[in-house]
Amino acid sequence: MQRALALGDAARRRTAPNPWVGCVIARDGVIVGEGATEPPGGPHAEAVALAAAGDRARGATAYVTLEPCGHRGRTGPCTDAMRAAGIERVVVALEDPDPRVGGRGLARLRDAGVTVEVGLGAADATRSLAPYLHHRNTGSASCLVKTATSLDGRVAAADGSSQWITGDEARADAHELRAESQAVVVGSGTALADRPSLTVRLATDTPARQPLRVLLDARGRVPADGPLFDTTLAPTLVLTTAMVPGPALDAWRAAGAKVEIVDAAPDGGGVDLAAVLALLGRDGVLQAMVEGGPTLHGALLAAGLVDRVVAFVSGAVLGREGRAMFAGPGPLTLGDAPRLELLDAQVLGPDVRLEYRNARHGSGSS
Ligand SMILES: NC(=O)c1ccc[n+]([C@@H]2O[C@H](COP(=O)([O-])OP(=O)(O)OC[C@H]3O[C@@H](n4cnc5c(N)ncnc54)[C@H](OP(=O)(O)O)[C@@H]3O)[C@@H](O)[C@H]2O)c1
Repeated sequence: MQRALALGDAARRRTAPNPWVGCVIARDGVIVGEGATEPPGGPHAEAVALAAAGDRARGATAYVTLEPCGHRGRTGPCTDAMRAAGIERVVVALEDPDPRVGGRGLARLRDAGVTVEVGLGAADATRSLAPYLHHRNTGSASCLVKTATSLDGRVAAADGSSQWITGDEARADAHELRAESQAVVVGSGTALADRPSLTVRLATDTPARQPLRVLLDARGRVPADGPLFDTTLAPTLVLTTAMVPGPALDAWRAAGAKVEIVDAAPDGGGVDLAAVLALLGRDGVLQAMVEGGPTLHGALLAAGLVDRVVAFVSGAVLGREGRAMFAGPGPLTLGDAPRLELLDAQVLGPDVRLEYRNARHGSGSS
């Protein structure tokens, strides 16, 4: 199962909106076939592994990181292919929450006399597939907040400058996170201050498609120029509200961006962030990486929408005039404070990379 998880993980940049599944087929203690999910429209991991195993699949055990599908999508049901190949035992890490699968794949295998075991490697599979599980459980994109901060938790100096707080290694790692996301999101404050391009440029394995760039601009403040509106670099989506002036809408569209009107946030400050994640989920975004400033990050945290945070922390000290990582009045007491669960800590050159998840969202949503 560890091998199957590694194969699945290696495919995570190319399968969305499908899950990145790994499969290993073993007989008499020897691996006879293995594979991972191919890009959408291509074979699932089980089909790749079965093709590699050929006749050696007869009487073998298949280790799969996610329940095999028992329905006909763009490819045939994996359960039927496994049965036809003579697989005798299937060991699955996790059941698939996708309503089209949801236990039916396992039932179909059991009905056909195949021995089925569930749960081996479940914790690792849950972590690896977290954005997919969140998406299928909620219909919304999972929200990864990425931030580069000083030692005292500031993301910009008093003059608004933030490039660069952290070093080359941290910036390259942030591009790896972009490559694993289907959308990269900023607020209008960051778009105006930094004029970012939000493309994947420094990743080791550049995805076939650049992630969708998403600008949240409720009032039409960001002009339709600069790299964010160069749609030869990557597609751009602007999410705005009915408050936007017509000329701003026209200019964004003329630059080649797609524009959608969503509800205003319940408190009137910007766009409704739950609606943003739902809209992105509807469009097949499993993970939205938010690279906003403190205003957007603070609003997401306050709304309970943050699933994961990756913070790159440098040794710079920007002082109290610098901008705090999460804006807002903050909790009044320590007891009110949102508290994230530390998943990982690494040294990256001169910086530290801290990864947290929102444990309140349950095992499948971080
Ligand atoms: N170090 C880092 O990792 C990092 C990363 C990014 C930015 N920065 C720095 O952060 C600073 C910009 O901070 P910022 O707070 O102004 O930028 P921001 O959080 O990216 O943008 C805030 C703006 O987004 C819009 N927005 C739309 N919907 C929203 C919602 N529901 N909640 C909150 N905002 C929403 C609002 O403007 P409208 O109401 O007009 O729509 C809001 O003023 C710059 O100095 C930049 O360099 C640092």
